[in-house]
Amino acid sequence: MAFRIIEHAKLERNVALLGVFALVTVMIGGLVQITPLFWIDSTIEKVEGVRPYTPLEQAGRNIYIREGCYVCHSQQVRPFRDEVERYGPYSLAAESMYDHPFQWGSKRTGPDLARVGGRYSDEWHRAHLKDPRAVVPESIMPPYAFLAEKALRTDDIVAQLTALSRVGVPYSKEAIAKAAADLEAQANPDADATELKKRYPKVQVRDYDGDPTKITEMDALVSYLQVLGTMVDHKKAASQQVPNEGAAK
Ligand code: HEC
Repeated sequence: MAFRIIEHAKLERNVALLGVFALVTVMIGGLVQITPLFWIDSTIEKVEGVRPYTPLEQAGRNIYIREGCYVCHSQQVRPFRDEVERYGPYSLAAESMYDHPFQWGSKRTGPDLARVGGRYSDEWHRAHLKDPRAVVPESIMPPYAFLAEKALRTDDIVAQLTALSRVGVPYSKEAIAKAAADLEAQANPDADATELKKRYPKVQVRDYDGDPTKITEMDALVSYLQVLGTMVDHKKAASQQVPNEGAAK
């Protein structure tokens, strides 16, 4: 025992030796974490219901990123009781498997938005985005009224879906080719949405911005907010999963 303590004292007093041993220790830790990843096909457990975003939702997602909503909002319900009671079932890895870039975040000046879909009406979202203090008097969120005036840019939607498909989002050739038509069909209740519904199960088709005559950035952003956290049937998913300790049942 005394011998070992003397040996260790030597190690601690020799910077070069300590450096070498520290490096070896860190390398072993790294190998243990990284090597298994070479032999497993996927680190994400597939969960029923998760589909790629429709072109309209994806365009809304881009606006969310452009406007820096992530600076104040996270999109990840953590597996703790207080989180689950406030926001709903904790987030599954599969729920953000098509998110590029993901929006998990850690800054919560405002509430988490991972499960905001369906919690409010479109009308509430419009009023809130135009003037947050009109619906939540104590809100410090900035207003985004211009979104309702600004026509949504659609000429780049094919390029966007192509880029996403290159990083692994399973958009078919047809889905990419018909992206502009799909986008229009989701926001315009008079358009034919048969193909859109076939390609994107459970898609919600309606006029999101309250103005059926044009497709605005408000249409896109509200459609994105309304789909967040709604793809997975959590009662079913929970029965397939091993419950996480600390998560509310
Ligand atoms: C400066 C920080 C800040 C920014 C930037 C911000 N928000 Fe908020 N947001 C808040 C705060 C604070 C609240 C809570 C008060 C309220 O409801 O207005 C909130 C609430 C919300 C809610 C209601 C959530 C709930 O569960 O009640 C939604 C939806 C929302 N924000 C969406 C957005 C979107 C979309 C953007 C970007 C266009 C955005 N926010 C940008 C601070 C921010």
